[in-house]
Amino acid sequence: MSHPNPTPNPTPNPTPNPNRPSTSTPPPGSPGLADATRGRILFGGDYNPEQWPEETWHEDVRLMKEAGVNSVTLGVFSWAKLEPYPGAREFGWLDRLMDLMYENGIGVVLATPTTSPPPWMGRLHPDTLPRDEDGRTEWWGGRQHFSHSSATYRRYAAAITEDLAARYGRHPALTMWHINNEYCTYDWGDEAAATFRRWLRDRYGTLDALNTAWGTAFWSQGYGNWEEILPPRHAHYMKNPTQVLDFKRYTSDMLLECFAAERDIVRRHSPHAPVTTNFMPIWVGQDAWKWAGEEDVVSVDIYPDPRDPFGAQQGALIQDLTRSQARGPWMLMEQAAGPVNWRGVNHPKPRGLNRLWSLQAVARGADAVCYFQWRQSRQGAEKFHSGMVSHAGPRGRTYQEVKRLGAELARIGVEVTGSHSPSDVAILHEWNAWWAGAQDGRLSSEFDHPQVVSAWHRALWEAHIATDFAHPEHDLSAYRLVVVPQLYLLTDAAIDNLVAYVRGGGTLVSGFLTGVADEDDRVRPGGMDQRLRDLFGIHTLHEWWPLDADETAECDGFRGTLWSEEIESGDGVAEVLYKGGELDGLPAVLRKERAWYVSTLPEPTALRELLTGVAAGAGVRPVLDGLPPQVEAVRRGDLLFVLNHGREAVTVEVPGTHRDLLSGQQVTECLELERYGVAVLSS
Ligand code: GAL
Repeated sequence: MSHPNPTPNPTPNPTPNPNRPSTSTPPPGSPGLADATRGRILFGGDYNPEQWPEETWHEDVRLMKEAGVNSVTLGVFSWAKLEPYPGAREFGWLDRLMDLMYENGIGVVLATPTTSPPPWMGRLHPDTLPRDEDGRTEWWGGRQHFSHSSATYRRYAAAITEDLAARYGRHPALTMWHINNEYCTYDWGDEAAATFRRWLRDRYGTLDALNTAWGTAFWSQGYGNWEEILPPRHAHYMKNPTQVLDFKRYTSDMLLECFAAERDIVRRHSPHAPVTTNFMPIWVGQDAWKWAGEEDVVSVDIYPDPRDPFGAQQGALIQDLTRSQARGPWMLMEQAAGPVNWRGVNHPKPRGLNRLWSLQAVARGADAVCYFQWRQSRQGAEKFHSGMVSHAGPRGRTYQEVKRLGAELARIGVEVTGSHSPSDVAILHEWNAWWAGAQDGRLSSEFDHPQVVSAWHRALWEAHIATDFAHPEHDLSAYRLVVVPQLYLLTDAAIDNLVAYVRGGGTLVSGFLTGVADEDDRVRPGGMDQRLRDLFGIHTLHEWWPLDADETAECDGFRGTLWSEEIESGDGVAEVLYKGGELDGLPAVLRKERAWYVSTLPEPTALRELLTGVAAGAGVRPVLDGLPPQVEAVRRGDLLFVLNHGREAVTVEVPGTHRDLLSGQQVTECLELERYGVAVLSS
């Protein structure tokens, strides 16, 4: 592609103040997911027609209609096609597509293309390219090569967004805006250093306050001038942990600011269309609690490994988290109809698994079931990543299964969409705790935060206990049971919240290494906040005893993994003791009335039994009694979804008489489910 020499300045647009991430919640009366679904489950996916000749578009639309596709996401990676040289606008092809979709009754989730700038931008404006911590440039040739801090990038992004929104904001095919894609970049470059300093000035006001928060008396790090402060670049030895923590907070805020700038532009042009951006599942780079409050629709991409024996639970975890962030229905923006191509070995989905995992998402609140991508690419880095139409074409099993699913989703849409079932149990998970707990210099690198969260979620999932997720500062009073797998860092407000929750009659179970640090990652006196030690009946926390990967800690009745603690407890609170070794006779599990502390990670069965017992004591029931282990039951509104994750057929007892919305059959007392079978029961 050749183009004339550029006009480097697109529509002038002042760079937003990078110090202050927008924290506006959606304006009152903002549209939501229901405005896009209108009683149907959205079904479709990313559509990248720029990869195909126009004849294929017509074939695509025919197949989409045959498969019940009612939604496509256009334009995610279209920047170079829309703006082939600076300031150019090539909208003709998109006009034709928007019209084609409208004429065929397919709604468009229109993306701003700002995740992948055209090559000319990097060539003409190297300041738009991010640098890694070693100072290396992230060049174009892949994707996501933009610096969140670059004023030039932001100007170009705002300009193309403005023009897209002005042109399509009122187009009848438009159902939703999709900003960027999976925001996930970091930048350690010079412009980022400047925005980092501004962000820090906003946070701390003075250098003294920053020096205190970062503990710069350690290792001679005291700052005397703001210009001395850098992003945590490559260093000889371990970096200042609070500097690293703040860099994570800042990065999430900077990306959020990029999102908010584009969101505000599209909202001006189409106040009726909800706005979203797709999260990656439990992604470390975005404080998704904060982000979710900025979106009209919370959406996520979910790609469990079909070979993972806990793939269904991994999916359930992300679904529970996303529903909780959305506080109701949410959008499954991307999943794979078959294999992905970014694992070491990429397995296809066996027959029925795509349907099962899609309906699992619906059971847990998804009102949209979408894929990356519609048609499998023939070129480019993702040509072996599946699409809804695979290389085998419409005769292929993948498309045939997609078609069946489309018909089924259409059947249940009216009864399902908009409904929501809060759970009795909340799992607490929070990004600052994750960031701070993952620093260099910790006592063990044998585990990470998501692994511990997942172990606790899995214990409850296997016990058929429905769970929400919550932020530790949220109002928890509606929950009978709150579990804290691990929150290494807790703010004062969060600690007070937990204490008040238990005082108010709630039951709390906390895992190890919780409440250790304050929000500056300063260890609290005694190694755990005093209020929490009082709550759990811990007199003295003498030492932490991390375990090697192959080591376990014998306890009375089970084995602990990953970690153990040398605790001297108050009277009458030791519930389970360590047996043998250095901790012999010391408490492994403590209980003071309704507050439990578990100082190790019990092996899976033991954790499940422990939590099941505590849940029962708190009045929490499984969704259905007597379920076989491979069967999951989920309530959504008045419906009961029953999902067989096993490879064998099963019979499940479902007291009463029901109608299965999928098969249309009446079900009385007993439900037969084939391998990977699903029923959606209405009573
Ligand atoms: C997502 C991304 C898509 C595609 C997909 C492949 O992370 O948003 O563009 O790359 O992964 O699994």
